[in-house]
Amino acid sequence: MDEQISRRNFLRGVGATALVSALAKATAVAQSAEALDDQKPVGPGPAKLVLQVNGHRQELAVEPRETLLDVLRNRLQLTGAKEVCDRATCGGCTVLVNGQPIYACMKLAIEMGGQDILTVEGLGNQKSLNAVQQAFIECDALMCGYCTPGFVMSLTALFNEKKNPTLAEIKKACSGNLCRCGTYPQIFKAAQKVAESS
Ligand code: FES
Ligand code: FES
Repeated sequence: MDEQISRRNFLRGVGATALVSALAKATAVAQSAEALDDQKPVGPGPAKLVLQVNGHRQELAVEPRETLLDVLRNRLQLTGAKEVCDRATCGGCTVLVNGQPIYACMKLAIEMGGQDILTVEGLGNQKSLNAVQQAFIECDALMCGYCTPGFVMSLTALFNEKKNPTLAEIKKACSGNLCRCGTYPQIFKAAQKVAESS
């Protein structure tokens, strides 16, 4: 009998715990629904957006569906980042966001407000290239030129973090960038040249 009571009590206890847990979940769901209610929906038409690109403030109106890559290329005429695969496999669209390389084809522009965005156009100019750009020229590290800005951005991010990386670290930094024509030896040579000169 004692055993039955204690089993009943045990089951009551479980029921109470399940009830508390269900209530907690219901409360959490209600709170997140309220939070969503507080957020003003944007779109499908253009919404105001302020981007910080290559040190310049850019005020735009973009549709929520537009990627960062499309906005950079089609609205701001910054065509250095390339649309090649448009599905996060090639790295042709690589730009730096707060110093980190990302695929611009995989980011919605509307998410990028307040972030520090750097494209290959922001690295240097024809009279004053950055060290990676200069080494690419000296080592003949490009053939198609299509993938090149992405490699330059990924390597620039690496050298901003580490002045003298190893070959293994250079290869790892480029692992998200694809060169279909096999210019890798020249690319790595250029990167090693930068590493040796630092
Ligand atoms: S175009 Fe973005 S990863 Fe290929
Ligand atoms: S240099 Fe662009 S794919 Fe090889």
